[in-house]
Amino acid sequence: MSSEKTSYSLDLDEAKIPSHVAIIMDGNGRWAKKRILNRVKGHERGMEVVRTIVRTSRNIGVSYLTLFAFSTENWQRPRLEVSALMSLLKKFLVSERDELHDNNVRLNMVGQKERLPGDVKKLLDETMSMTGKNTGMVLNLAISYGSRDEILQMVRHISKRVNDGDIKLDEINHKLISNHLYTAGMPDPDILIRTSGEMRISNFLLWQIAYSELFITRTLWPDFTEQEYIEIIKDFQQRDRRFGKV
Ligand code: IPE
Ligand code: IPE
Ligand code: MG
Repeated sequence: MSSEKTSYSLDLDEAKIPSHVAIIMDGNGRWAKKRILNRVKGHERGMEVVRTIVRTSRNIGVSYLTLFAFSTENWQRPRLEVSALMSLLKKFLVSERDELHDNNVRLNMVGQKERLPGDVKKLLDETMSMTGKNTGMVLNLAISYGSRDEILQMVRHISKRVNDGDIKLDEINHKLISNHLYTAGMPDPDILIRTSGEMRISNFLLWQIAYSELFITRTLWPDFTEQEYIEIIKDFQQRDRRFGKV
């Protein structure tokens, strides 16, 4: 079942499948509020959607899927919400790792791993090493991720290398910078999707999205469907990416 192509994906242009899709999964809290439920219920429902979108991405041949699950700023949310999100993350890893592994998916994380609770870190490490040799889609979870922090680390790291005489000043170029970000070795996102209608980037992949095609949908993340995802990819396939040329 999980490896079958869906009926929606049949009219996708197989030659123009995006290599890298990045998603700001927003709107869980508002989804719950509309139903007079606790925000955590929205996050729970959101996790179901993660499962669907991971499967669809893999089925249509996306190579990298980066999901913004928790930002460096999200630590400032109420303690109970933060711990519920961490528990959900653990639940996701435990329930999904066999399916991920069976489908040749490699799990990766981008963000401040050292800031995560020990049990979350342990599960992440286990799942990453379990799937580490897989050659299919890379599922990139952005957890305690902030782009400015990532850029700061990159600047420090490169500065140190210059200081140590390891590289020369004029050897600093775009590629070197990319290679010192958490996303080293990955292509930049072709598509950036944000759900819930907010017209902002919220400190996500600032360097990497320089030429990504943007899709902002008013749909709240827990209501986001495979069908809408496929429609976005079809729309992407119609776009003319000029990269500044004519
Ligand atoms: C996205 O949903 C999930 C996280 C940021 C962890 P929100 O929790 O931000 O939902 P809204 O934006 O309050 O509706
Ligand atoms: C961005 O959503 C972070 C994630 C989806 C994990 P937020 O809900 O935190 O962003 P703002 O506060 O609306 O900018
Ligand atoms: Mg939000």
